[in-house]
Amino acid sequence: MKLADNKATLSFSNGSPSVDLPVYRGSVGPDVIDIRKLYAQTGMFTYDPGFLSTAACQSAITYIDGDKGELLYRGYPIEQLATKCDYLDTCHLLLKGELPTLQERQDFHKLILRHTMVNEQMQFFLRGFRRDAHPMAVLTGLVGALSAFYHDSTDINNPEHRAIAAIRLIAKMPTLVAMAYKYGVGQPYMYPRNDLSYAGNFLRMMFGSPCEDYRVNPVLERALDRIFILHADHEQNASTSTVRLCGSSGTNPFAAIAAGVACLWGPAHGGANEACLNMLEDIERQGGVAKVGQFMEQVKDKNSGVKLMGFGHRVYKNYDPRAKLMQETCNEVLTELGLEKDPLFKLAKELEKIALEDDYFVQRKLYPNVDFYSGIVQRAIGIPVNLFTGIFSLARTVGWIAQLNEMISDPEYKIGRPRQLFIGAVARDVKSLADR
Ligand code: CMC
Repeated sequence: MKLADNKATLSFSNGSPSVDLPVYRGSVGPDVIDIRKLYAQTGMFTYDPGFLSTAACQSAITYIDGDKGELLYRGYPIEQLATKCDYLDTCHLLLKGELPTLQERQDFHKLILRHTMVNEQMQFFLRGFRRDAHPMAVLTGLVGALSAFYHDSTDINNPEHRAIAAIRLIAKMPTLVAMAYKYGVGQPYMYPRNDLSYAGNFLRMMFGSPCEDYRVNPVLERALDRIFILHADHEQNASTSTVRLCGSSGTNPFAAIAAGVACLWGPAHGGANEACLNMLEDIERQGGVAKVGQFMEQVKDKNSGVKLMGFGHRVYKNYDPRAKLMQETCNEVLTELGLEKDPLFKLAKELEKIALEDDYFVQRKLYPNVDFYSGIVQRAIGIPVNLFTGIFSLARTVGWIAQLNEMISDPEYKIGRPRQLFIGAVARDVKSLADR
């Protein structure tokens, strides 16, 4: 870490001596004040619920400038990656730090596509679930279960194990997500086909059947690949921080990634795409575009508990660059499928237009995020709404594992252990039952 020219001085109004704290400078973005010795020097903790001002690690993977609406993976703008690279190139970049050369690309693609099959026992594991289980419940279980199948890649402290686990996770996630889907609808599982692309193989495992050939539509294949790229990493978000915290205890990589899947499920995070589509369908049922005004009034009413799903972001205080790319993909997919007049797309555009002009949203800097349009694209492709977050977790797996590996390789890494401001009862004696 590079020290900045200045330092921070913390002073107290009660006359306690002030404390100098080192300041570090990253390659870009806000400086950070190093408070690691604060407790030893002052006997005090900092208080920052939700980590609004706390950098929990140093990282060289993803950078977001929330004010500009900029997202960089290893320095490359998301717009360039989404138009010039595919998802597996992006995985190579996130995991290894650089885009692959031609030879590296061929090798990496081959490596991933040769590990797509899961242990045959996995289907028996699946059978333990109810058919109507939420796919995210199933996936949390399946990803955790990988640690029971691949004993040669469960030592998080062994770099070779971590590398094998990374390849396995990226390669097998599409198979697991498709299996979770097929199980739910009672159709036979489709074995992966390694001569197809990563996204093409996933489409076939989802929508193919053993009864007839499945032809991959290149427009849908490209759209899905773009969804994967846009969701591949997003620096220290809730699920990534969960993976880091979980992995910091030294648990195995599959268990740490399963924790990420569990965290992603929530509607404030990865579950927002599902919640957003449900919201659009609800408004459509109630009258569609004509009801937008009424719905927006509810959103602005603090007591209603209604949020405009797919809007707002902890970091972006400008248009989420992924939302722009997703809107473009949405146009392409709907045109390809002859769904240009899709009522939900029309509705989403209307909601976006009104929100971008409304004072409530303008003042709070609330803009569409990636989830606003991704649900419409996925629904058009034929992916059921309750699988949207599963697709997100498939795509984010590379980010989680890249961040986990970065943490373990960081000499400054320690088990994560936040402190607290205790506001409960002070020490007291247990009374006998008769006296309570
Ligand atoms: N609809 C209506 N009001 C909103 C929304 C929204 N979607 N998002 C934020 N606000 C309001 C919020 O009520 C608050 O108002 P006030 O200052 O009057 O109390 C203000 O804007 C600031 O919001 P916040 O909740 O303090 O912001 P946060 O950084 O804690 O939350 C968020 C970020 C993403 C959880 C939130 O914007 C949200 O719940 N959005 C909807 C869910 C969603 O789309 N999530 C996907 C995020 S992108 C995918 C991912 O990374 O997982």
